[in-house]
Amino acid sequence: MVAMALRQTARTLVARGGMRMASPMRAISTSSVVRSDALFVHRDTPYNNAAIPFSFTGEFVPEAQAIIKQYPPQYKKAAVIPLLHLAQKQNDNWLSISAMNHVAEVLEMPPMRVYEVATFYTMFNRTPVGKYFVQVCTTTPCMLGGCGSTAVLEAIEKHLGIKAGHTTPDKLFTVIEVECLGACANAPMVQINDEYYEDLTPASVVAVLEGLARGEPVKPGPQNGRLNSAPDTEQRTLKEKPYGPGQHCVPEFA
Ligand code: FES
Repeated sequence: MVAMALRQTARTLVARGGMRMASPMRAISTSSVVRSDALFVHRDTPYNNAAIPFSFTGEFVPEAQAIIKQYPPQYKKAAVIPLLHLAQKQNDNWLSISAMNHVAEVLEMPPMRVYEVATFYTMFNRTPVGKYFVQVCTTTPCMLGGCGSTAVLEAIEKHLGIKAGHTTPDKLFTVIEVECLGACANAPMVQINDEYYEDLTPASVVAVLEGLARGEPVKPGPQNGRLNSAPDTEQRTLKEKPYGPGQHCVPEFA
C-alpha cells in the first residue's frame, strides 16, 4: 500500500496534457489529496469526452476476445483489468472516457465499475501522455545501484528539457518517477512503454532516448552488455558443482 501511495503521488504529477508543475524538490512522500481531482474526477474536454468513438480495432479485437475467453461467461467482468490495459495500449497509452465506456459495454458492466478500477490503479493513465512514457524507478535499490537513479533522472530531465511529471512540447516523451518496478538486480532502470531499460548510466539512458526519438529500434534490457541479470564481471556465487540427488543426505534417505 505504501508503494502504491508513493507511486500514486508520482502519477499525480502527470499533468492533463503534461502541464502541471512538478515540485522542484524530490520528497520521499507527499500528500496527493490536494491533487486528487486530477485522479478521480472526469471533466469533458475536446480530446476526452464520451462523444468521441472508441472500440477495439485491428489486432486488438482478437486479443480482446482471447482475454474474455479466459473467464467463464458469467464472470467475464473479471477481464476488466486486462481489457483496460489493452484499451490503453490501443489508445496511445492512456484511457479516455470512451475507452472505459467501451470496456464496460464489452464486459456488460456498469461504466462506474470500470471507472472505479481505472481510477484505483495508477498504471492506468487517464490523461494523454507522450508517445514514449518514461517511468523512472527511484526506489532505494535503484537510487543506490550503479550510478544511482538520481543521476539517471537528472540526465533524462536535462536531455529532454522537462521535469518529472511533464511532457515534452513535441508530445514525444512524458517522464514520471515511480516506485520499484521489480528489476532491482539491474538497477538503475527505467520503463518506457512496455519495455525495461536496465543497468543505466546518464550516457546510456540519453542514448536510449535519442534512439527512440529518431524512431530507431532500441534494444531493451541491460544497456551495459550484461546478459539479463547475470554477473556483470566474473561469477561470484553458485560456483561449486551442484550436488546431485541423495548427496549429503543421511544414509537412510540417500
Ligand atoms: S528499486 Fe528500481 S526496480 Fe526495484
